[in-house]
Amino acid sequence: MSVGNSQSLDHQPVNDDCQGSWHQHNPRKGQFTMRILKTITTIGVAGAMALTLAACGGNAGNAGNAGSDGASSGGSIENLKIGISLPQKTSENWVEADGFFNDTCTEQKLDCTLQFANGGVAEQQNQIDAMITSGVKVLIIGAIDGTSLGTQVEKAKDAGISVIAYDRLLLDTEAIDNYVAYDNFQVGVKQGEALLEGLAKIKGDGPYKIELVAGSNDDSNSSRFFNGAMSILQPKIDDGTLVVGSGQTQQSQAATQGWDPKNAQSRMDAILAQNYPGSEVPDGILSPNDTLARAVLTSVEQAGKEQPVVTGQDSEVESLKWIMQGKQYSTISKPTLPLVQNSIALAVKLASGEKDIKELNGIQVDEEQYNNNKKNVPSFLLEPIVATKDNAKDVYKDEPKKLEAVNSVG
Ligand code: BGC
Repeated sequence: MSVGNSQSLDHQPVNDDCQGSWHQHNPRKGQFTMRILKTITTIGVAGAMALTLAACGGNAGNAGNAGSDGASSGGSIENLKIGISLPQKTSENWVEADGFFNDTCTEQKLDCTLQFANGGVAEQQNQIDAMITSGVKVLIIGAIDGTSLGTQVEKAKDAGISVIAYDRLLLDTEAIDNYVAYDNFQVGVKQGEALLEGLAKIKGDGPYKIELVAGSNDDSNSSRFFNGAMSILQPKIDDGTLVVGSGQTQQSQAATQGWDPKNAQSRMDAILAQNYPGSEVPDGILSPNDTLARAVLTSVEQAGKEQPVVTGQDSEVESLKWIMQGKQYSTISKPTLPLVQNSIALAVKLASGEKDIKELNGIQVDEEQYNNNKKNVPSFLLEPIVATKDNAKDVYKDEPKKLEAVNSVG
C-alpha cells in the first residue's frame, strides 16, 4: 500500500483515485455517516473533514516529542511507519478495510505495511514479528485469535511500539494501548432486538421456534455479539416466548469455526433434519453476520422450507439485496471508513507521544466495558445501527455502494 512500501502489500488498491493527494477528487471522502457512541450521532461532511484533518495530523502532529523520525520529528507524521495486521477476509468489512487503510495511508503520506494473515494464526504471528523488526512505530491489529498474539505485542511494547486493537480486542495481555471498534456488545443487543421485532412483524403471535448461530470461538468479538443478543433473548426463552428447537443454547454449541459459511450451513442442515420434520421450520434464526445469514437461509431454502426471520451484520452488498427482497430481515451498519480513519488518527497521536488519550475525534474514551482479562482497555467505541428494509435507504444514504445495492431491488 503505501508510500514507500508497495512491496509489502498483498492487495491492489480498490480504487485508483485514492492514490492521489488529499485535494484530488475521491468519492469515498465525506460519504460516510460516522456514529459515535453516546456523544455525537451524526457528523456530516464538515465533521468528516474535521475527522480527516485530525487524522492527517492537524492536531496530533503538533503534540509530538522531538525525536529521530516519523511522528516524532518536529511533529511531522510524514513517513510514520505503521504495521497493520489483519485476519483472513472472512467478511466484506475486511475487504473494505484493506482499501480504506490503503487510501488513508497514501493520503497522509504514512509508511504503512498492511498484511492479511490468510494462512492463520502462525502466519499472523510471523507477519507481526517482521513488522516489529522492520521498525514500525505503531501496530494496528485485527487478530484472528485474540489470545494468540501476547508474545508479539509484548515484544512490541519492549521496543517502544504502540499497539492498537482494531475491531477485535486482544486478550490476556497488558501490552495494548487502545481498542478501536464498533461496540460489539451493542451489535448483539441490536441483533436480538431485531430478531424479536421481525418475529412479531412477520410471524404473528408467538411463541416462536428459533435457532442460534454464533461466530468463531477464537474471535474475541463472538462472545460479545452472542452475549449482547442473549441479554435480549434469554428472558424471552425463560418466559416461553422463544423456544430453541434444537436445544443448542450455548455459544459453544452455536459457534461457527473460522466464520466459515460452509460450517454454518452444514450445522443448520443437521439441525433442520433432526428437529424440524416435514414442513416444520424455525420462525427465526439469530445470525451474527451477513455471510452466515445467507448460509443459513440457503440451508432452509434447500430444505424446501419457508423462510425464517434472520439477522445479520456488516451491510454486505448481497445481504442488502436480500433484505430489500424480504429474504434476510436485518443487518447492522458499521461503516468501515470511520473505523479505519479513527485507528489511523489514534496511531498518529500515540506515535506523537500522547498518552492516556481521553478523546478521539469527539469520541470519549470508554475505560469500563472492554476488559481483556488483564486490564480494562481504553476503548474508542463507535455506535452500530440496525438496518432493515424499512430504514435502509436512510441508513445508507451517505454510502453510495451500499445505497446502490439497496436501490437495485425494485
Ligand atoms: C467483525 C465482524 C465480521 C466477523 C467475521 C468480526 O470480528 O467484527 O464485522 O463479520 O468478524 O469476519
